[in-house]
Amino acid sequence: MIRVFILLMTVGAVLGTYIIQGNTAPTLTRVNTGPKPCQTIPQWEGRASEWNHITESNNRYIISFDGVGLRKRVLKEAKSFMPGERQYNYIMEFKTNTLYTINLNLNTCTVTNLTQPWQNHTIPTDATLEDEYELGAPGSGFRVREWSDRLPARRAESWIGIFTIASCWPIVEVFTDDEPQNPVSLTTRFFDLTPGIANMSVFDPPEICKNQTVHPEPEFEPELEFDPPITYQYFNVTIDDDKDSGPVNSFFKKGWNYFKSLF
Ligand SMILES: *[C@@H]1O[C@H](CO)[C@@H](O)[C@H](O)[C@H]1NC(C)=O
Ligand SMILES: *[C@@H]1O[C@H](CO)[C@@H](O)[C@H](O)[C@H]1NC(C)=O
Ligand SMILES: *[C@@H]1O[C@H](CO)[C@@H](O)[C@H](O)[C@H]1NC(C)=O
Ligand SMILES: *[C@@H]1O[C@H](CO)[C@@H](O)[C@H](O)[C@H]1NC(C)=O
Ligand SMILES: *[C@@H]1O[C@H](CO)[C@@H](O)[C@H](O)[C@H]1NC(C)=O
Repeated sequence: MIRVFILLMTVGAVLGTYIIQGNTAPTLTRVNTGPKPCQTIPQWEGRASEWNHITESNNRYIISFDGVGLRKRVLKEAKSFMPGERQYNYIMEFKTNTLYTINLNLNTCTVTNLTQPWQNHTIPTDATLEDEYELGAPGSGFRVREWSDRLPARRAESWIGIFTIASCWPIVEVFTDDEPQNPVSLTTRFFDLTPGIANMSVFDPPEICKNQTVHPEPEFEPELEFDPPITYQYFNVTIDDDKDSGPVNSFFKKGWNYFKSLF
């Protein structure tokens, strides 16, 4: 116990101070005396490239993020080297729990309920500071901080987010989960970011989405208990794949606190 305490104090000396609470089952509470996670502005736009290392696919998206109206718009960019690839526009209204999936090639719209709660695209307040360094060319780079969901002496990180120190813009996020049945491995890079929303109309569902019946939302399995508790939810969604081979089943697993998927 003493040794554990000394180890924790050593970690604490590096990353902050920790206090041990409780009698029978002590829990560790971090009192962060170092830099606190910054908060990204609620409304912004930009582009993102998401590598899914499990499916070995890379997609690029144009995104509009409205943390005030609780809306997201994600436009999947077409790949010039894949003629015939379907192009999608996704409009997500978290206030009405509605996802509009617009197939831009067929000009069709599918309305479903969203499968995840609203999540601000920022650094969770309980994130652990991993490192601080300069990115870019010597002398003309910029400083970033790297955060993770790692807990001292508890578990390895499964999320890493790199954000600029100036104004807290996301640069790279990595999410990984090596659970054998449903592994997740995503790397998302953000670029061409701009503050604010240039055109609020991007959140307006087009006419073809009107009068659509809402499809049942995917069923959730019971939440799993973790120590410390982290809410994971499992669900299946049916998505169109890009190759006109009909709907495919896809399995998503998300730790809501940290995993910032584009969908
Ligand atoms: C998320 O952003 C909204 C709008 O800016 C804000 O009201 C809310 O408190 C934020 N939630 C969290 C958990 O930070
Ligand atoms: C704003 O977005 C809407 C919907 O995407 C589009 O029809 C309109 O042309 C845009 N307006 C401008 C000024 O870009
Ligand atoms: C949608 O439904 C309303 C009321 O049922 C109807 O007046 C309207 O014409 C419909 N719009 C479309 C685009 O079908
Ligand atoms: C979709 O979500 C809305 C709002 O939360 C809810 O009222 C509705 O029952 C849901 N529809 C289905 C089919 O689950
Ligand atoms: C999700 O899909 C997988 C693979 O098809 C299946 O084994 C699993 O039972 C499904 N889960 C739910 C909740 O439907």
